[in-house]
Parts: sequence; structure tokens; C-alpha cells
Amino acid sequence: MARKFFVGGNWKCNGTVEEVKKIVTVLNEAEVPPEEVVDVVVSPPFVFLSLVKSLLRSDFQVAAQNCWVRKGGAFTGEVSAEMLVNLGIPWVILGHSERRLLLGETNEASFPYVSLNFGNITIGRILDWNNVVLAYEPVWAIGTGKVATPTQAREVHTALRKLLHDNVSPEVAASTRIIYGGSVNGANCKELAAQPDVDGFLVGGASLKFLQQMDQSSEE
Ligand code: G3P
Repeated sequence: MARKFFVGGNWKCNGTVEEVKKIVTVLNEAEVPPEEVVDVVVSPPFVFLSLVKSLLRSDFQVAAQNCWVRKGGAFTGEVSAEMLVNLGIPWVILGHSERRLLLGETNEASFPYVSLNFGNITIGRILDWNNVVLAYEPVWAIGTGKVATPTQAREVHTALRKLLHDNVSPEVAASTRIIYGGSVNGANCKELAAQPDVDGFLVGGASLKFLQQMDQSSEE
């Protein structure tokens, strides 16, 4: 089964209104394959979601970086999934390792409705898998410049697909996109993308390269 390629840009906790506007301008002018071929999704901090959504070209999508996965209510500081839907935000990153390492988030906090655990990976039977993209991000590769080799990425993605096959269903294993994150950039992405089970990327630093270049040129 052909799986649509997925490219996500995780901006993490970066940016100002002015910088965000400039990045969106650059993205809007980018030449990328049509949306039938690739999902391009940018994930700004919560405060910029509406701004990015209003300025971004219509074939690109917007994701939040986290959300409160239970019903809303008296949870100061949280943003519920219903609010994201209400805002027209179709994607959210859940359970990023930075939230686990720095904020002590657990599988239960991120995925309260799922039933199976495999080490650090949680696989759910009751999810609507058509709406899920699974990201493999080795922590040693995040923000370090040490990218997984194509073989390493392929082996883990293939193992994840087998987990889905054996524990959810062969159909879900065949259709679910498994993407790689961790020091992906323009130089290493082609070889990784050529691996059979790598269906896309979640990119941190390189998705903000333009921002860093702007910072450097304003300092000069
Ligand atoms: O979510 C993407 C991220 O964790 C990878 O970050 O900076 O290594 O591309 P980076």
C-alpha cells in the first residue's frame, strides 16, 4: 500500500510574531510536490497557531505541539483537543520526548485511551489509526546533529510496523505512516526517505534554519 509522505516542522518553543510571519512567507513561496503526494505540516507554539493558520498557504497544514487529551474544564494552562478542532487545527504532536524528559509527562498523560505498551512506545487498539502518524525519534539524535543512519532508521521503522501488524492489524500496519525525527536536514533526508519503511520526517532545528539565518544576518 502506498503511504503518503509526511513532512512535519516542529518549531518547538521558538519565534516571535515577526519571525513567524517571515517564516510563513518563505514557506508560502516554497516549491514542493502537490498535496496529493505529501502532507506538509508546520507546528508552531500555541500562541502562533491562529496567525500561522491565517497566513499559511492552503495546501500546508498546521499542528499544535501538545494538547490536553481529556475533556476540558478546570485545568489551568491547558489547551484541549476540542479547542484545537474548533480552531481548525487538524494535527497535534503528542508525547514528544522533550515533554517526557523535561516535564515528566507519561504515556498515561499523553495517551490515556490506549492499551498496549512496548517500552517507551505506546500502541493503541482503539485509536482511529487513519488519523495517526507514528514518529520515531531517538533521543540521542534530537538536536545533536547525530542523525540515525538509514539502516538504523529502517530497522526501527520495520520493527514498529511489525508491532502494529502483530498487535493491531495487518491493515493498520500497512497504512500507518511511520516518520523519523532527529537531526534531519537537507543533506541527509534523501537517503533516509529512500528507506522502505520511512514515510516522512518530523524536523526540528532544520525547519527553523531560515530563522537562524535571519538572526545571524541581523547580528552582522
Ligand atoms: O520533533 C522533532 C525533533 O525532536 C527533532 O529535532 O532539531 O533534531 O531536528 P531536531
